Amino acid sequence: MRILILGTGGMANQHAKHFAAIEGVTLAGGVDVDPARVEAFCTTHNIERGFGSLDAALAWGEFDAIANVTPDSVHYPTTMAALKAGKHVFCEKPLATDHAKAMEMTEAAEAAGLVNMVNLTYRNVSQLQKMREIVQSGAIGKVKHFEASYLQSWLVSKAWGDWRTESQWLWRLSKKHGSNGVLGDIGVHILDFAAYGAGSDFSKVFCRLETFEKAENNRIGEYDLDANDSFAMTAQLENGALGVIHATRWATGHFNELRLRVYGELGSVEVQHRHDWSKLVTCLGADAETGTWTDVEVDVVPTNYMRFVDAVRAGKNQEPSFRHATNIQKVLDLATTTDRDRMEHSV
Ligand SMILES: NC(=O)c1ccc[n+]([C@@H]2O[C@H](COP(=O)([O-])OP(=O)(O)OC[C@H]3O[C@@H](n4cnc5c(N)ncnc54)[C@H](O)[C@@H]3O)[C@@H](O)[C@H]2O)c1
Repeated sequence: MRILILGTGGMANQHAKHFAAIEGVTLAGGVDVDPARVEAFCTTHNIERGFGSLDAALAWGEFDAIANVTPDSVHYPTTMAALKAGKHVFCEKPLATDHAKAMEMTEAAEAAGLVNMVNLTYRNVSQLQKMREIVQSGAIGKVKHFEASYLQSWLVSKAWGDWRTESQWLWRLSKKHGSNGVLGDIGVHILDFAAYGAGSDFSKVFCRLETFEKAENNRIGEYDLDANDSFAMTAQLENGALGVIHATRWATGHFNELRLRVYGELGSVEVQHRHDWSKLVTCLGADAETGTWTDVEVDVVPTNYMRFVDAVRAGKNQEPSFRHATNIQKVLDLATTTDRDRMEHSV
């Protein structure tokens, strides 16, 4: 199977590494509008062909699928072009910048019978997959309450580079550059994490977004720093559970940390995931009386990259699909609406 990597910035290195490690997969080419970047990327990953545009790569055409690792606002036009050319697409999150575009991408992929998946990375966390299994087995009973958070600190710390000078961070702070802020960037991950772990989709949401002053006139060069960098949400799931979800880029001491706690009528389960470790604990049955928590061992699960390759080989789509990401996009759009209206809305 031959994969083209579209967009050769930071995250593309993960795609190249993971896809290249799968037996029988070849990295057929790299594409970027920045010639120096695509050249360096192709050298690093031993890729024969580099292109300056998707059109040029499609004119050549000798690949089966595209890994779309462009900035958020570029996903829609490039994915639509790839689907039109009959290529399967593994797209980075968020699928699009709004629900209408995400739905168009879903319908185009489904009508063409092409494999379409979105890289909701935290599906790769074995502890999350196990949590869902525990919840769905009925071991914690009916789910009543949940708490989910996604904490990053790159607006405070330079551990990942300096957002004041690097384009890969600046576009994430600017609406004009297609970003929906922390909500679109990592909100999409934590919404998927919470709903997947708690075993139910969203029914109602209310969200508050905040954009803090970060520079003189809140502008650096061509970038207006107007995209939100902190949000707090209350949500209800279709299974009736009520919960809170929040995310921020201001959480000093937390580079990249997701946590989900799910409470049922018979017990609780909690997953914590950081870049360097993950943990799953439960409090079930008689342990409810003593508040005792037990570590749960888990088996490694296949990554989204592996499952995308399996899906293309089998000609059968897998989750997380474009349609699933489109449903999450609806919740993201609603979050912005509820912030404007200062009132809860049904999904
Ligand atoms: N799943 C995850 O955990 C995860 C993590 C990081 C980033 N991402 C997503 O990956 C995507 C890329 O993020 P990044 O951090 O690599 O950004 P980045 O800015 O480092 O890289 C994006 C690259 O795309 C190129 N590009 C822009 N327009 C293009 C076009 N029309 N054709 C070809 N190339 C084009 C840019 O020149 C740049 O090199 C984003 O959608 C982001 O949300 C996902």
